[in-house]
Amino acid sequence: MGKGFFISKTVGILGIIAGVGALATIIALSVVYSQEKGKNNNQNEEQTTSKPPTTTPIPSNKPWDKYRLPKNLVPETYNVTLWPRLTPDPTTGLYTFLGSSVVDFECVEDTDLILIHSNKLNYTEFENQLARLMSVSSVEAPAIKSSWLQGVTQYLVLELDGTLKKGHKYRLYTEFIGELADDLGGFYRSEYMEDGEKRVMATTQMQPTDARKSFPCFDEPAMKAYFFITLIHDRGTTALSNGKDIETTEINHDGQDLLKTVFERTEKMSTYLLAFIVSDYDSIGNSIDGVEIRIFARRSAIAAGQGQYALNKTGPILKFFEQYYNATYPLPKSDQIAIPDFNAGAMENWGLITYRETALLYDEAFSSNSNKEKIATIIAHELAHMWFGNLVTLRWWNDLWLNEGFASYVEYLGANNAEPEWNVTDLIVLGDIHRVFAIDALASSHPLSSKEEDIQTPAQISELFDAISYSKGASVLRMLSDFLTEDVFQLGLRSYLSAFSFGNAVYTDLWYHLQKAADSSKLELPDTLDNIMNTWVLQMGFPVVTINTGTGSVSQQHFLLDPEAVVTTPSPFNYQWIIPIKWMMTGNMQNPLWLTSKSAMKATQDQWVLANVNMVGYYRVNYDDDNWAKLLDVLQSNHQVRQRMIVNVAQILDDAFNLARAKIISTVQALNTTKYLSNERDYIPWKAALNNLDFFYLMFDRSEVYGPMQDYLVKKVSPLFEYYKQMTDNSSKVPDGHMDQYNQVNAISLACRTGLEECQNLVMTWFQEWMDTDTNRIHPNLRSTVYCNAIAAGGKKEWDFAWSQFIKNDSTAIESDKLRYALSCTKQPWLLNRYLEYTLDPDMIRKQDATATIVDIASNVVGQSLAWDFVRARWSYIFSQYGGGSFSFSNLVNGVTKRFSTEFELQQVRYFFEMTLPQCGFPFVHFVILLLNWFGSHGPP
Ligand code: BES
Ligand code: ZN
Repeated sequence: MGKGFFISKTVGILGIIAGVGALATIIALSVVYSQEKGKNNNQNEEQTTSKPPTTTPIPSNKPWDKYRLPKNLVPETYNVTLWPRLTPDPTTGLYTFLGSSVVDFECVEDTDLILIHSNKLNYTEFENQLARLMSVSSVEAPAIKSSWLQGVTQYLVLELDGTLKKGHKYRLYTEFIGELADDLGGFYRSEYMEDGEKRVMATTQMQPTDARKSFPCFDEPAMKAYFFITLIHDRGTTALSNGKDIETTEINHDGQDLLKTVFERTEKMSTYLLAFIVSDYDSIGNSIDGVEIRIFARRSAIAAGQGQYALNKTGPILKFFEQYYNATYPLPKSDQIAIPDFNAGAMENWGLITYRETALLYDEAFSSNSNKEKIATIIAHELAHMWFGNLVTLRWWNDLWLNEGFASYVEYLGANNAEPEWNVTDLIVLGDIHRVFAIDALASSHPLSSKEEDIQTPAQISELFDAISYSKGASVLRMLSDFLTEDVFQLGLRSYLSAFSFGNAVYTDLWYHLQKAADSSKLELPDTLDNIMNTWVLQMGFPVVTINTGTGSVSQQHFLLDPEAVVTTPSPFNYQWIIPIKWMMTGNMQNPLWLTSKSAMKATQDQWVLANVNMVGYYRVNYDDDNWAKLLDVLQSNHQVRQRMIVNVAQILDDAFNLARAKIISTVQALNTTKYLSNERDYIPWKAALNNLDFFYLMFDRSEVYGPMQDYLVKKVSPLFEYYKQMTDNSSKVPDGHMDQYNQVNAISLACRTGLEECQNLVMTWFQEWMDTDTNRIHPNLRSTVYCNAIAAGGKKEWDFAWSQFIKNDSTAIESDKLRYALSCTKQPWLLNRYLEYTLDPDMIRKQDATATIVDIASNVVGQSLAWDFVRARWSYIFSQYGGGSFSFSNLVNGVTKRFSTEFELQQVRYFFEMTLPQCGFPFVHFVILLLNWFGSHGPP
């Protein structure tokens, strides 16, 4: 008996979907759709449902009111055809896409109900139902009794007349239409100008829960399946998806000449990694050991050679990870594409990675070294996911930290491999550890790991994409890999990946494989890996290790920025950690030790102790006064030793400032660590100092401390400014070294900020020359800071000039990003207010950049209160338009309030969010609580 035995002929034909058959119904749908305009904007309002719409969650035990899918149906293959329409419907003005889907699934437990995710899709009815059900094995499929869309939990619900039987396979067919909106989620559209014409493309962003916005699917990461994708698209456009295209044929429908591209079946994969793109992009490519590598971008960008850098680096990084994971790249191709409108930085869709334009395209004439490093790093990050995340996927979103933390750690290894001269691996200290320390030191932080049952709604899932998951995850994994040794770490990792290929795992599965590797390598650990790691993963925060070199005692305590904070979250380990300590005595490495309870680090009169060498441990260190004094002395007078411990110099600065904020040491002691800066030339310590001084600026730039602070800092930075001036022909060139290039920018921006006249004259002259001659001779590395300072010092003329350049440069995102930032630097309130208005007009500022621009404006001392008022006044609109995105929204709340330090400001925040939160179902409640808590700890300056 053949597979399709129970499928009726008509249904069977429909079932063989892909292509023109489906197209006919798709066209019919389109007509219906245009008559019922607006429907897909709010699925709850008017649906072809047989039940009344639900707008608020009604507490109920019905399976369709639960956010998690029941486990009784397991998808096996999908056949999905999608047709994005790149011109708006003439009657409704809406852009839409049409689709049809067949999903074959196995029933593993008898049930009379089918729940499949679906969001903002409108369905064609078949005999009054939203889908057709067939059997593909030896029992007949029951009829559908009723079907409807459950808005809140985002399901298509099918109640059946009979039972689906365990062990049997069924097939579900649907036809649907959705809006191809400009909302940066699911199947959406992106627009740009080329040759004076507007171009529209269709692209996707599925992670975490938007695959269901493009076709009905079992949209959970453990519901892996095979996908057969077909895209219908206009002649002259290219269609891309996860698999290679097998064939593109010309079709004609109702007089429309179209193309149909069929893609190779995917590997077994999760829905959040799917991607569908239709564009008129160009590409460049090469291949490495049989894997085809291509970079796609708008035609002008490819013509300008902007894809070349990414193309050159992708092959080597791919090879690096193959070796690192000891597993060949699992797919035949790796496409990477730059999208003009893109919410995150990049997305690891398997075989078709999507990027912001600035994260993939490099142009020597416009890109800074920082832009270039970002590209190498982000490519490494996404390629790392091809195995860790895509080949082996965490079972549920609660373990997202392992996925993102891991990629955020190894991105440094991949980038270092691609650009060994740059020495980027140490930058994790600034980019991740220091960044997340600021958040994880709050009483309202949260542990890396969440319980599966605590993460249910799409909003809860989105909230997990935070600095804890990314940066703490990366920091803790780096520490783990260091104490296991890189070899043992790799051994365990490889065994984990091979055990779970094409499947799913939980984080403890990785621990299990690492433990096995440690055991087989006879590595001695103070406890099981599980027990050690639990102290870092299951409790929030991190310790400060206190070393008294007089007595030799070493102890630990939970580090909190606010000494009066009351920690209400209980910890299974009572806020004690199992801490690996690498340390040195008077510049010489000692045997690492574990601070499980206590230990000894005694120093004599002429010895000093430095712990947490290279900052490999996720903790801060405090010393007795005597040792602090000796360390400061080393900074001041021992250049050679200082240079050998650059990362720790940064650490000493960062620890001192933060211990002072926590009132563990005095502010004077912290400021003392900056005294030596007049002798410092290295980037990493300077950057750490600047990050901490930034906080002083934020707190004090409106107070009487500002003047004396400026006087002091100008003295510290002048020698550095002078140093680079000499090296670079009056700063018109840039130094050779990557880190030197960064520090040159630091020198210029701090010198100008502290009012060094020579610096201000320099940037004004350069900018003026550009305005006068229309030739920009400013080096790309220096552009952001030069533009910003010139616009800050100037008025309307400078601002308008920069705005006209911004508009003109829309096709070169790298340049327009620098201008967009610099426009926020003006000191003219009316220009800032006008600019704030522009941020909510997607024709002026792309949606992807709106919140970042508001945050830039808020970082400006003049713009801060304007931005805070603006955000409050437009809250509901901003939330509805920009609230669903990835990281940007929490950044916004943080950004517009980060200067706040008084009781009055705290009350303002509290009042506003108390009024607002209950109404809008704010997904970052957690974040705001965290913020409130933080303000609580920073009373009036
Ligand atoms: N998977 C994420 C992209 C993402 C973020 C999707 C948030 C949905 C919500 C991707 O792998 C990622 O982490 N991108 C980072 C890259 C960076 C850390 C190098 C990004 O977008 O910034
Ligand atoms: Zn990632």
